[in-house]
Amino acid sequence: MAISHSVTWQDATVAETSTVAERIRRITLRPEVPRPVRPGEHVKVLVDIDGSSATRSYSVVDAADDGSEMSLSVFHTPHSRGGSSYMHSLRAGDRLRVSAPLQDFPLRIGAPDYILVAGGIGITAIRGMASLLRRLGADYVIHYSARSPEAMAYRDELRSEHGDRLHCYLDSDGEFLDIPGLVAAATPGTELYMCGPIRLMDAIRRAWGASDLDPTNLRFETFGNSGWYAPEPFSVTIPRLGVSATIGENESILEALEGIGIPMMSSCRRGECGLCQVTILETQGQVDHRDVFFSDSQKATSTRMCACVSRLVSDTPSHPPAAGDGARISIDVP
Ligand code: FES
Repeated sequence: MAISHSVTWQDATVAETSTVAERIRRITLRPEVPRPVRPGEHVKVLVDIDGSSATRSYSVVDAADDGSEMSLSVFHTPHSRGGSSYMHSLRAGDRLRVSAPLQDFPLRIGAPDYILVAGGIGITAIRGMASLLRRLGADYVIHYSARSPEAMAYRDELRSEHGDRLHCYLDSDGEFLDIPGLVAAATPGTELYMCGPIRLMDAIRRAWGASDLDPTNLRFETFGNSGWYAPEPFSVTIPRLGVSATIGENESILEALEGIGIPMMSSCRRGECGLCQVTILETQGQVDHRDVFFSDSQKATSTRMCACVSRLVSDTPSHPPAAGDGARISIDVP
């Protein structure tokens, strides 16, 4: 689902921060121009990465009714595109630039029942939906998986709010979501909303697609920062323009090309709208398609890719890559 936005930026002050799970910080912001936040909404944040500004998107996990305070929860990973380090460095009183809340993941009210699926930090996009469905008296169930109990943010709060409707799965205990069972339990009117790692969402997407269920009842949120492989540096060449660039593991092709003055089109910058797509001419390595814009068959033929999120990995992905085995890609831009 691609929805384009005109983004209104504003200042916000950090009201407080706290650790809510292993490597997850909760950051509460007071925006200068508050407005109520709807479930599924996110904000864009201008983050500072090595002195350069970049945009990152984070779900609003909960907010005051009037939006005067809204909380994000940010997972810190060394393989992130760099924004999470900045977010984890924030302290009460810091000022930053944020967008007004944006909606790409709307909850449709009125379905006979709902399945909510969250993997890891994906709970941030799902928690507000679950709260609203509970308040509406809707029929819903939450499936929430994480690496370990320490990595599972908000579990106690979710348990006390949703009781038996919450089902938790811990990799550390060998518990895994039964995806075929979950899809088999869906009825023709069931709506499934999910946010989590690409492997989890892809498995659900395939199982849902192989069933008779309505594909439009499967909805998901992606922030384009979760791939099949750990990011590694690689090089990009645009023969027609005679330019080359090295893409660091913490930046996108789009950011790198913009950085050297190549005019690029973009909108969502998270793999949804397809505006940033480039033509693939030749690769040494394989493309790690991280978008949700191209279909599986388009990704399999790999003639185009979304420059805002998709990357290249060497043929035998490892982290860090061994010297000399760096991946290369030759592309053309619109
Ligand atoms: S800018 Fe939307 S997919 Fe890249």
